[in-house]
Amino acid sequence: MYDLLLLLHSWLRWVVVALAIWAILENYKGWKSGLSYSASVKKWNTFFIASLHTQLVIGLILYAFVSPMMQNILSDFGSSMKNSETRFWSVEHIFGMILGIAIAQIGSIKSKKQTTDSAKFEVAFKWFLAGFIIIMLMIPFGIWNVERPFFRF
Ligand code: HEM
Repeated sequence: MYDLLLLLHSWLRWVVVALAIWAILENYKGWKSGLSYSASVKKWNTFFIASLHTQLVIGLILYAFVSPMMQNILSDFGSSMKNSETRFWSVEHIFGMILGIAIAQIGSIKSKKQTTDSAKFEVAFKWFLAGFIIIMLMIPFGIWNVERPFFRF
């Protein structure tokens, strides 16, 4: 169960990154080129948000229930703050990701409420970009934070 969820969480990161880049570029193009907000754009925006929700659910299960690393870290939460790697896992990854996902989700809701196509594109573009930057900062790429394999097998 743990191995499977970690594998899924690891690979789904690339799905999130690909869908985020696609959605951000499509909304930017629609905003700047005055395109109409088509069913296709709506569909890709929904896929992006769905990938975030899936990642959130898998992440929460790993964090609270099945990850042996997390059970070990959370058994002494206070001490985890003293080490940059354990602090990343106990606090930074979870809160950063929840914040990034919430920003993208708010953007999606706000975009749908806009009355013009241009405003729908603009709102989705700006909020998705803000959420994506936070998510990228919290992925353990080993460049500015903890190192994990880019591709887990
Ligand atoms: C878009 C959102 C997220 C992305 C892209 C993401 C990405 C990742 C990646 C790439 C790893 C390392 C996987 C590996 O070792 O191969 C990881 C580990 C982990 N993530 Fe996330 N994550 C996200 C959201 C979350 C959330 C919201 C939580 C908690 C609620 C969470 C909890 C965890 C935990 C506990 C681990 C470590 C599991 C272990 O090593 O035992 N993640 N995440």
